[in-house]
Amino acid sequence: MIFKQFFDQTSSTFTYLMATSRGAEALIIDPVLDRVHEYLQFLGENELRLVVAMDTHVHADHKTGLGKLRKLTRCMTCMSNNASVSTISRRLKDGDSISVGEIEIKVFDTPGHTDDSLCYYIEDMIFTGDTLFIRGNGRSDFQNGDAGQLYDSITQKLFTLPDETVVWPGHDYKGEHVSTIKKEKIQNPRVAGKSRNEFIEIMDSLDLPNPQLMDIAVPFNQGFADNLGTLMGESVVLNCEQVESLEEPLLIDLRDQDEADHSGMLKGAILIPLRDLDGALEDPKHIINQGKEVVFYCAHGERSALGLEFALENGLKNAKHMSGGIHAWIDAGRDVA
Ligand SMILES: [Fe+2]
Repeated sequence: MIFKQFFDQTSSTFTYLMATSRGAEALIIDPVLDRVHEYLQFLGENELRLVVAMDTHVHADHKTGLGKLRKLTRCMTCMSNNASVSTISRRLKDGDSISVGEIEIKVFDTPGHTDDSLCYYIEDMIFTGDTLFIRGNGRSDFQNGDAGQLYDSITQKLFTLPDETVVWPGHDYKGEHVSTIKKEKIQNPRVAGKSRNEFIEIMDSLDLPNPQLMDIAVPFNQGFADNLGTLMGESVVLNCEQVESLEEPLLIDLRDQDEADHSGMLKGAILIPLRDLDGALEDPKHIINQGKEVVFYCAHGERSALGLEFALENGLKNAKHMSGGIHAWIDAGRDVA
């Protein structure tokens, strides 16, 4: 296993990059915009291909690197279903899992620090974001945080994991970098031996100033994808009615197989996960290169906008994408196969 913990001193943020081996697909958790060059260097040195970038929540103390990494590596971006973010590849909820090569990431919904906070579980490790720190935890006084919910997330979700589970937090302000569930159960002064009410009292009395970057970071992190696809012009961005009115287009679904299994596909569509699109575009025999009118779609319209960009850059003519993805399609009452 290749595993790297990065630290951004400005915001005391930890970022995690992992892959099974050299040359494999990789994932990154909580990348910081200003550090993207470091991640790219590490990926290059280890011949890794970044396919998934995920945030544990909408951060208030730093700008996310998700948008830049997506642009530079064509990775899929993931966040909570509850995140008020304009565009994201895949929205996650409790119990979901994502595969990156041989690595399986299980999603835990852990609201409290914010209402969109997730923790990610990978093989005896839990990436806790701001839900649980080493001998501490994230604040709960903004972004729809809730101290009671935070206590429940820590004690009823994270603390039910095996004691030896390794805890990789989203921040540290005291020079620590790793812990375990057992250590936090025993030594975390916020929760060890504390009742829910005692915890709420502690959190209510913290009286912390807002993070310095909050007014910049939160709007940036909520809207980092806003201009995705708009530079390509209206003629290549279709809504549901426009897609329906086309005569026998080649519909290409850019989601992962498990998403298609779960929510169905547009009738007649073929599945090419975004991570495999380059290969299809480079294969002259592939159906995508047979001169048909191509319409890309995905879950919400992020991957399809990106896919369209790649396709146009690759010289594919007559390609378009469906804005809003299959969610907009289903919301508009249309059928899926
Ligand atoms: Fe946070």
